[in-house]
Amino acid sequence: DEKLRETLLAHIHDVPDYPKPGVMFKDITPLLADAKAFGLLTDTFAELCERLGATKVVGLEARGFILGAPAAVRAGIGFIPVRKAGKLPGACLAQSYELEYGTAEIEMHADAVGPGDRVLVIDDVLATGGTAEAALQLIRRAGAEVAGVAVLMELGFLDGRRRLAEGLGDAPLEALITL
Ligand code: PRP
Ligand code: MG
Repeated sequence: DEKLRETLLAHIHDVPDYPKPGVMFKDITPLLADAKAFGLLTDTFAELCERLGATKVVGLEARGFILGAPAAVRAGIGFIPVRKAGKLPGACLAQSYELEYGTAEIEMHADAVGPGDRVLVIDDVLATGGTAEAALQLIRRAGAEVAGVAVLMELGFLDGRRRLAEGLGDAPLEALITL
């Protein structure tokens, strides 16, 4: 709702020209440093887990770990890290995706989720949607169901929502703040 949105926004700082000229960076570290605001965000994501019947949270390295892990604990379900390639020790499923320049690759342990799981993906920002789309492909390839994608901020002008449409199917994309 509007009050939640205002509280969260008040703790997200705009940093102009970072990491490069012309980019407005959304710094969530003040939000993380405020126990009340971070708690509110965690409660909101945890309620979403319950509402969507999620059995697992997938967090996207790195900022999705910070937001996803406490939400999973609060909802009483497990947390699964999706990492940049080469960081996980076990047998992995890998998925590459297109960046503005070049490609990137993320991985998930192959046995982390499976049939019978309903997985909610949590991250801080949805921009082009490339990272989240690749995560949805990993979840489906592992044989699990997609419960949804939840982000703190959606950069509406980048159209990530459209890129996720196929991977989401009937599952929702929940953005607490749309910019
Ligand atoms: C950022 C952000 C999202 C992703 C969104 O992560 O945290 O995960 O980009 O972009 P997309 O929708 O265009 O894929 P980034 O990989 O920059 O770094 P991080 O490790 O700090 O989360
Ligand atoms: Mg990230």
